[in-house]
Amino acid sequence: MAGMTAPPSSRILLSIIAACLGFLLSWLLGAGGEPAALTAAIAAAGAWFASRPPSVSPAQAASSDDTPQPSLEEVMEAIDDPMLLVSGQLVTIANSAARATLGDHIVGEDIRLAIRHPAATDRLTLQAESGDAVPGGPIELIGIGQRDRRWELNVHPIQGRGLLVRLADRTGTHAAEQMRVDFVANASHELRTPLATLIGFVETLEDGKAAEDPATRGRFLKIMFGEAKRMQRLVDDLMSLSRIEAEKYSLPQTPIPLAPLIEEVRGALHSGIVADKDRVIVEIAPDVPPVAGDRAQLSQLLHNIIGNALKYGRPGSPVQVSVKLARDNMVKLAVRDEGEGIPAEHIPRLTERFYRVDPGRSRSLGGTGLGLAIVKHIVERHRGRLEIRSEVGRGTLVCVLLPAATAPLPPALSSKSHTNVTEGTPNRSSAHIDPA
Ligand SMILES: Nc1ncnc2c1ncn2[C@@H]1O[C@H](COP(=O)(O)OP(=O)(O)OP(=O)(O)O)[C@@H](O)[C@H]1O
Ligand SMILES: [Mg+2]
Repeated sequence: MAGMTAPPSSRILLSIIAACLGFLLSWLLGAGGEPAALTAAIAAAGAWFASRPPSVSPAQAASSDDTPQPSLEEVMEAIDDPMLLVSGQLVTIANSAARATLGDHIVGEDIRLAIRHPAATDRLTLQAESGDAVPGGPIELIGIGQRDRRWELNVHPIQGRGLLVRLADRTGTHAAEQMRVDFVANASHELRTPLATLIGFVETLEDGKAAEDPATRGRFLKIMFGEAKRMQRLVDDLMSLSRIEAEKYSLPQTPIPLAPLIEEVRGALHSGIVADKDRVIVEIAPDVPPVAGDRAQLSQLLHNIIGNALKYGRPGSPVQVSVKLARDNMVKLAVRDEGEGIPAEHIPRLTERFYRVDPGRSRSLGGTGLGLAIVKHIVERHRGRLEIRSEVGRGTLVCVLLPAATAPLPPALSSKSHTNVTEGTPNRSSAHIDPA
C-alpha cells in the first residue's frame, strides 16, 4: 500500500499530533498527568508504526522494479568464455567467444558437429538423456579451435531450456604447470649428475688402494672439489633467480654508474677460470647518466654477459663492452664477442632456464645454464630491454637497455608473460625480451 507510507518528517509530525490528541483526550476525560502522558506516548508510537513503510524483500523489490531483466542470450554474451545453449542435440545460442572458437556456423548445428570431440559428445548425449542429473565433473578437451589449446568443458542443465555448455580455456594454466614440472625435473637432473660423481669418488677412495696413492688421491679430490663447486653454483643461481622473481614488482631506484661496475666485474672475471682481463675493451661515452638500478643485480648481469662473451668467444679474441645514452633516456650497454655465434633457432630459447646450445661445452666450462635466465629477470625488474643478435661464424652481440636514473619511470610491470620476438636470416638472428 504505497499510499499509506509517509516520508520520515511527515511521520514525526504525525506522531506529535497523535501524542497531543492523546494527551488532550486523556486530560479531558479526567485522567491525571501521568496516565495522560502514557496515553500520548502510546498514541505517538501507534502513529509512528502505522505510517512506517512496509518492509519489502529483495525479491519483491526486483519484481516490482520495472527494469527489464537481461535475457539468457545477453548474459552469455557478457561472458568471455565460449558458451553454448544446447536444446535436444542442437545449438540454439552461441556467444561471440564460442562463435570465434568453433565457427559462426554452429548456431542451429548438431552439437556433435559443433564440438567434434568424442568425450564432449558422450558427456552431452548422456546429460541430455539423464535430464537434470549431472554425471561427473568437468572434462578436459584438447585441440578445439587450435591444435594445442586445452579446454575444460562444463555442462549445467537449465530448466526448460536445455544444457548450458561452458568451455574454459586452460592452455595458460597447463603451460605454467608444465614449466614448473620441467623446472623441477631439470634442477634435479642438474644436481644429480655432480652428486653421483661425488658419491662415486668417495666410494673409490674408501676402497683404500686409490687413497694410498697420493697422486690419485689428489686427482680425485680435485674432481670432487670441482663437482661440489658446481652444485654450489647451481644452488646459488637457483636462489638468485627466486630472489629476483620475488622482487619483480619493486622497481630499483638507486642511481648506479655503470663504468666503475664494469671495471669491478672485469677485475673479478680476471681471477676466474675464463679470465683474460686484457681481452675486455671498455668504451664509455662521455656524459652517460647512471642507471636506476640494483647494484648487486647489475653486477650479476654484467658478470654473466661479459663472462659469456669471454667463454664462448674465440680464445684470445677481444670482447668489446660499450655504454652510451640511447633514445627515450635509456642507457644502452652492448657486449660484442668474436666467437662461433649462435644458430638462429636457439636464440629465442636462450633465456629459458637450463637452456644451452651445447650442453657438454657449457658444463665443461662450469656453466649452470641459468645465466641468461637470471639476466632476463634482472632486465625485466629494471623495466629494461634485452636483445641478442648473433651471426654464425662471426660472433654475438648482447644489448641491454636500462632506464637512466634521471628518466621518468616506465609504468609498473603487469603480470602478463614476457614476449620473445625473433627475426633474422638463418645466419643472422636476434631476440628481444621486453617487459610486458
Ligand atoms: N656470447 C655467446 N656466444 C655463443 N653462445 C652463447 C653466448 N652466450 C650464451 N651462449 C649460449 O647460450 C647458453 C645459455 O647461456 P647462459 O649464460 O644462460 O648459460 P651458461 O653460460 O651455459 O651457464 P651460466 O651462465 O649459468 O654459467 C650457453 O650455454 C651458450 O650455449
Ligand atoms: Mg652464462
